Amino acid sequence: MSNLETISTLQGQAALITGASRGIGRGIAVQLARVGANLGINYAANHTAAEETRSACIGAAKSAGYDIKATICQGNIGCAADRQAIIDHIRSEHCRLDILVNNAGITSIGRADILEATEENFDALMAINLKGPFFLSQLAGKWMIDQRRQHGEIWSPKIINISSISAYTISTNRADYCMGKAALSMMTKLYAARLADDGIQVFEVCPGVIASDMTAPVKEKYDQMFAEGLAPMRRWGTPEDVGKSVTAIALNYLPYSTGETINVDGGFHFRRL
Ligand SMILES: NC(=O)c1ccc[n+]([C@@H]2O[C@H](COP(=O)([O-])OP(=O)(O)OC[C@H]3O[C@@H](n4cnc5c(N)ncnc54)[C@H](OP(=O)(O)O)[C@@H]3O)[C@@H](O)[C@H]2O)c1
Repeated sequence: MSNLETISTLQGQAALITGASRGIGRGIAVQLARVGANLGINYAANHTAAEETRSACIGAAKSAGYDIKATICQGNIGCAADRQAIIDHIRSEHCRLDILVNNAGITSIGRADILEATEENFDALMAINLKGPFFLSQLAGKWMIDQRRQHGEIWSPKIINISSISAYTISTNRADYCMGKAALSMMTKLYAARLADDGIQVFEVCPGVIASDMTAPVKEKYDQMFAEGLAPMRRWGTPEDVGKSVTAIALNYLPYSTGETINVDGGFHFRRL
């Protein structure tokens, strides 16, 4: 198989998804399970939800004819020791890492107006939404480079960052969130350029408004906005929508792209007159 070839299964490959206990991360994990990937399911605090993700993934894989290994690894991606422990877990349980999905993230704490936002909340968000994926990608990237020596040039690992329409859409009561996501876009291009010679592709998946615990508190507001035409496709996105896009990348359907942004937003990003 050449590394330009699209494949139909991830059987035997290992994917680490951060923040996979709920929401979009769970949606990604389930879709990767359906094509046979072994999984590392990271979460921060909600062990019961992580177990539910694990069961859903094993069930989805089984329905598609796969017997996958899905493991759970607790860890705060904002903490250096936890990031190392997450990678160590994947090394000991899966012995390889083919796909890293930097999905875990939090919304702006308190959603304070930009003039009232606190340094403490800013630092807490940036640790999880930006510093976490940056340094986890560094650990994963170095390991992927080592693994490529073993697998050879046919092997084409991926790092996939889950950003947001907030990377380019302002909300003055979520400035830290918007800035963190904008930086994640740049981070995607930086790692894409640095890792291209090593055969590692890096992508940004940019979701629109997706139904999850994160958006549940603002459901009525967005219901109204969708009805008024917020996006050409007048519906909420789902974790499954995002999971399918990530799976297309993982299956090598974009073999000659890197540093690219894949919008999963029902057309939200169009400028319209
Ligand atoms: N929902 C949207 O409309 C939307 C749109 C665009 C982009 N996004 C992005 O998509 C990603 C997932 O969002 P979501 O809506 O699925 O959020 P969610 O429903 O709130 O789930 C967040 C997930 O991240 C985990 N997590 C939180 N802090 C963590 C940390 N420090 N270390 C490791 N894991 C942590 C949570 O684990 P626990 O269960 O243990 O708490 C949970 O699994 C985020 O990066 C978000 O910014 C969301």
